[in-house]
Amino acid sequence: MKAKLFLFFLSMFVLMSAVAGNVNIVPLPTKVEVGTGKFLFRKSLTVNTPDELYPVVEKFAADFSRATGIRVKKSKSSSAQMKICLNGDVPAEGYNLNVKPNEIVIEVSAPAGLFYALQSLKQLMPRNVLAGVPVATVEQWSLPVVQIADAPSFGWRGFMLDEGRHFYGKEAVKKIIDVMAAYKMNRFHWHLTEDQGWRIEIKKYPLLTEVGAWRNSKVLGWGDTKPDGIRYGGFYTQHDVKEIVQYARERFIEIVPEVDIPGHSQAAVASYPGLLACDINNWHEVWLWQGVSSDVINVADPNAVRFAKDVIDELTELFPFGYIHLGGDECPTAKWERNNECRELLSEIGSKNYRDLQIHFYKQLKDHIAAKPQEKQRKLIFWNEVLHGNTAPLGDDITIMAWVGADRAAVEAAKRGMTTILSPQIPYYINRRQSPLPTEPRSQGHGTETVEAVYNYVPMRGVEGELQQRYLGVQANFWTEWVEDASTVEYLMLPRLAAVAEAGWTPQERRDYNDFVERIQTDTLYYRLKGVNYGKHIFK
Ligand code: ACM
Repeated sequence: MKAKLFLFFLSMFVLMSAVAGNVNIVPLPTKVEVGTGKFLFRKSLTVNTPDELYPVVEKFAADFSRATGIRVKKSKSSSAQMKICLNGDVPAEGYNLNVKPNEIVIEVSAPAGLFYALQSLKQLMPRNVLAGVPVATVEQWSLPVVQIADAPSFGWRGFMLDEGRHFYGKEAVKKIIDVMAAYKMNRFHWHLTEDQGWRIEIKKYPLLTEVGAWRNSKVLGWGDTKPDGIRYGGFYTQHDVKEIVQYARERFIEIVPEVDIPGHSQAAVASYPGLLACDINNWHEVWLWQGVSSDVINVADPNAVRFAKDVIDELTELFPFGYIHLGGDECPTAKWERNNECRELLSEIGSKNYRDLQIHFYKQLKDHIAAKPQEKQRKLIFWNEVLHGNTAPLGDDITIMAWVGADRAAVEAAKRGMTTILSPQIPYYINRRQSPLPTEPRSQGHGTETVEAVYNYVPMRGVEGELQQRYLGVQANFWTEWVEDASTVEYLMLPRLAAVAEAGWTPQERRDYNDFVERIQTDTLYYRLKGVNYGKHIFK
């Protein structure tokens, strides 16, 4: 009852701010001019749109009509209330949205732009519309008269979820995708494999999920915390993956699957020690501890190379997008240093740096992809430790995701001619606490990244003009060693995800933390209606 009353008052607050003409759009559009007056909706909304854009209108109509009761009708008439026009001058993800007292005109050059225009339009209304939840308190639905010209600063606005350490399942992932779409984010980086669990079905290697998706502890041991012996795990079948891929596509989000190899691979090694282990005769199990396991894949074994190529083949079929992430972070070389095959291979390739074995492994995988037909081509992404080796064999058509010493690493990648994505551990690892308060839930990592600190990170600060072209964008990352349930993921993720989304979308000169805090207040209603948890620190 209390919750219902709270939602009622929150709705009234939100409705009043809409009436007062506030434009609470997150991320802040490039240009907004609020006029006077309103567009008043009738019982139905007629929409004149080019046929190829109609699927986007249909998706919008589902949430919009459910929330408002207003039917959306396709129309060929020039007097339709909403007119959608193609204009090749508008950037691919950009849009012009012009709400006049008598009509709504939207200009886009591509479907993604229309999707974002309609996301903004929903944010001009009470948050029930964005959430697609009916509200009974509105008698007359309206939009403020406003002119918006908008396009993102960066083409990559990402969020990474680690499901290797803990597994949350399809519905949790879909909710995250919805929130990302609300904030116009467009890359869901799905970290699917870890020392502590392999989470995606690979048909050719069934033991990866029969063995590798399960471990004998829900908590991960660390310091005084001991493994609890509880059988824990889960994985996505290929059927699940296809469903999530479709769900993301409808929201203009590309999924970037990450299979982290050859490090962070103990679950894979435990599943197929005969193919992957550096020390076949030792016992290998899915890891029960936190940290970085030394049980890495034997990159000198041709079986391991075959394995990785086969996995990439199945990923390519499952994920019809541009990129595959092969990890590459925190890969200890101790086992390679003790392994004869690895030592011989290192000498064969003429190097003394064991990191180059990792690069030699990747080079074979890259060549494998390059031999595929055009529609199966995928670009490769690696974490920035790969730069510690001689990357020349990989060429410059790879992407470096910069996390540790991110700003410097990204410049280094750009200087080597590679593209790069900024996901700085501090402050974009939004698995860390949001405040030093003792009431904070257990979160992965010891540090605190306040919403303000996250918001105030400036991408590409001081980067020379020419190198800037190599920066694809920004990404928030979420590691889950200490986060066992989806509700805590949400609590830590929000509203900081919105702060990163704004860094990716809004021109730097327009970004202002205090203004962001004002604009995002109304989103508490969206979170509550969607049933997503969120950090309360900045909400009044
Ligand atoms: C990472 O945080 N190990 C990419």
